[in-house]
Amino acid sequence: MVQRHADKALIERVGQIRAGLAGTPLFPLADDALDIVAKLEFCNPTGSTKDRSALWILERAIGRGEILPGTTVVESSSGNFALALAFYCRLLGIPFVPVIDPNCNKATEDHLRKLCGRVEMVSERDTGGGYLKTRLARVQELLAEPGHAYWPNQYANPDALDAHYLFTAGELIKDAGAIDYLFVGVSTGGTIAGVSRRVKEVFPHCTVVAVDTEGSVIFGGPPKKRRIPGIGSSIVPPLCREALIDEVEMVPEFRAAEACHELFARYGLFAGGSTGSIYAGIQSYFARNRPVGRRPTVAFLAADRGHAYTQTIYNPEWLQELRAEEAFASAPAWTPWPQTEGDLLTCTP
Ligand SMILES: Cc1ncc(COP(=O)(O)O)c(C=O)c1O
Repeated sequence: MVQRHADKALIERVGQIRAGLAGTPLFPLADDALDIVAKLEFCNPTGSTKDRSALWILERAIGRGEILPGTTVVESSSGNFALALAFYCRLLGIPFVPVIDPNCNKATEDHLRKLCGRVEMVSERDTGGGYLKTRLARVQELLAEPGHAYWPNQYANPDALDAHYLFTAGELIKDAGAIDYLFVGVSTGGTIAGVSRRVKEVFPHCTVVAVDTEGSVIFGGPPKKRRIPGIGSSIVPPLCREALIDEVEMVPEFRAAEACHELFARYGLFAGGSTGSIYAGIQSYFARNRPVGRRPTVAFLAADRGHAYTQTIYNPEWLQELRAEEAFASAPAWTPWPQTEGDLLTCTP
């Protein structure tokens, strides 16, 4: 194996970037029964929660000498992680090749094409109904190309967990005080693994609710086509096993989209699909578990903004199509009608 030494100039540069970062704000949302606080992760420099893991993974890899001048970073992402890596790699002068799929928002794709010399788009759905396995297979092909490449592997990299343990959860605990319930959307599991561990260390009574989307296989549900990026997965990510999860809320995609509109109408919060899933999850969870006595403090992370979803979630035609598809998918299997002569006789126009 070639012995590599960490590059001092890169270490210094990444340290300067980290020193310039501030935390994200925490906002109270008025509610009849709950003290809800939203940590606005979309206030990170690249507009999402993925800033945390992207910079920390790069920083740690640079520190270990796994990223050197001339190394190409290659990663699979449905959008936000790629955007964050693209930004920090550009700041650090490191080439980055994102592997994306058709669920990636058009705005994100355009942004990536402007920031990265090369963008790889896969087109085939995998056996789980998503694109993840296809994207990961493409990453392996790119890693085998000549030259030195680094794969952050956000689905299994413990530095992703550490980033959320250290920074996201560190800030949340400092700013929110005691938390009774924590709702976190899950895709790679890095966020929930890091945040749940730190929050439970400080507030052991806190109930951690993982929010996932119908069609995702993370918590054992059947796979089906999914359209909203940033939440759910067609594999069970290794980082999820590190998370301390008490409950799981599965949210249909149309409910996630409707909840985005509710968040906007009620609080002016213009958020992306995973945040809508979480808000819908909070509603369904507390509809079944009505709080009695003291108002519980409920914290959640608003992972990204709504701007990248104007053609989908915030587009009435797209929403109507989604509702129609969901209604069709949940309808009982079609049987030809009339089946008997009696059916014909009782038929009223
Ligand atoms: C918008 C958004 N929300 C939530 C998540 C889930 O975070 P994690 O991958 O750490 O589970 C992601 C991940 O890509 C995301 O992009």
